[in-house]
Amino acid sequence: MNIKTFQIRKVIKDDKPWITKLLKDYWGNHKIITRGRIHFGNELPGFIAIQDGKQVGHIAYRLEDDECEIISLISLIRGIGIGTKLLNTVKKVAVSSNCKRIWLITTNDNTPALSFYQTRGYSIVAVYPNAIEQYRKLKPEIPLYGLDSIPIRDEIELEILLSKNALKINYNE
Ligand SMILES: CC(C)(COP(=O)(O)OP(=O)(O)OC[C@H]1O[C@@H](n2cnc3c(N)ncnc32)[C@H](O)[C@@H]1OP(=O)(O)O)[C@@H](O)C(=O)NCCC(=O)NCCS
Repeated sequence: MNIKTFQIRKVIKDDKPWITKLLKDYWGNHKIITRGRIHFGNELPGFIAIQDGKQVGHIAYRLEDDECEIISLISLIRGIGIGTKLLNTVKKVAVSSNCKRIWLITTNDNTPALSFYQTRGYSIVAVYPNAIEQYRKLKPEIPLYGLDSIPIRDEIELEILLSKNALKINYNE
């Protein structure tokens, strides 16, 4: 296991080519669709994890009204805390922006992500059956099958409610 430390910093303009490629590698392209809305993941605010001067993780989010939506979270070195740290960094932004909740969408095949978020305090609050079928018309890059060859069909919404004390609870950080 790679146990070297990493740092977190804000996304800057120069990160755009790297983020664009990362999102293409993971999600087909930088257009990410959630609840029928297209987000340009390479133009959103976010944070980058750096190890030895190289980008090794990225989170993109957006704030609207009193909510924060995580649009993408990717860690290139798994299991050393990068995903958790990026998640908690956005949580700090959401709390200081007086958000009432953080929410995100994942798909039914992404069982590692469902496990990751639920062990970090997030709950499944909605399932949108067959939502992905419509999205393929907007984004044909979405594959038919995902992790473990599970058909990618449904959107799953997870959320964590925030309070003034939210930052005191750190899951596995
Ligand atoms: C989900 C993800 C961001 C976690 O990042 P990470 O840097 O490995 O996260 P951490 O090191 O903080 O935590 C690892 C945890 O994630 C889980 N995990 C999920 N996939 C993993 C993998 N391939 N390798 C190791 N751990 C994994 C582990 O169970 C571990 O949980 P635990 O600490 O409770 O035992 C990462 O697996 C990833 O980039 N996945 C692909 C993109 C994705 O699906 N993103 C989420 C949807 S928006």
